[in-house]
Amino acid sequence: MNKNVGTVCVHGKKQRRNVDNTGAVSFPIYQSATFVHPAFGESTGFDYSRLQNPTREELERVVNDLEEGVDALAFSTGMAAVTVLLDILEPGDHIVATDDLYGGTIRLMESICKKNGIKTTFVETDKVENVEKAIEKNTKMIYIETPTNPMMKIADIEEISKIAKKNNCILVVDNTFLTPYFQKPLKLGADVVLHSATKY
Ligand SMILES: Cc1ncc(COP(=O)(O)O)c(C=O)c1O
Repeated sequence: MNKNVGTVCVHGKKQRRNVDNTGAVSFPIYQSATFVHPAFGESTGFDYSRLQNPTREELERVVNDLEEGVDALAFSTGMAAVTVLLDILEPGDHIVATDDLYGGTIRLMESICKKNGIKTTFVETDKVENVEKAIEKNTKMIYIETPTNPMMKIADIEEISKIAKKNNCILVVDNTFLTPYFQKPLKLGADVVLHSATKY
């Protein structure tokens, strides 16, 4: 059945795994740090909240359904998500990024990434040819934000995804400003989509 976006926001697309058997209509907020194991060597999938927690799992399931992805991870802030994503890169790797990214992301790339031997070239990604020209032998990631914060610049995700595929790069899209309600980057060829959930 094709569910309305409002329904997906509340329930996700499929039946949730039966974690809470109280019949609670709104998914409960679990505050426990640790979870009991049913028996020695057996786990319900919840051991320690930093690793996974039923509330976070529910958020991940619903956001993944909204973005139509294969899986999702939730973090305490958008910058934590950006940091983890950039951590998949190795010293010597290169990023091509939008020149008008959210300031925190630019600072992360210009300070921490640079210190760790990862170079970033910032280009106006509203012109696809700039992205192509900036690709180097060691480019591993194209990181775009569309629309950007603050200048609301737009990039063509579909066209940039073709460049990413041709050059064996991961295409990351920060979808904070449109959300999957208006734009689904994974459907347009992006590999990873991320959000700061305190915005729209
Ligand atoms: C487009 C965009 N991405 C990422 C972030 C970072 O998210 P957070 O503030 O949740 O760490 C922000 C924050 O303003 C943002 O506007």
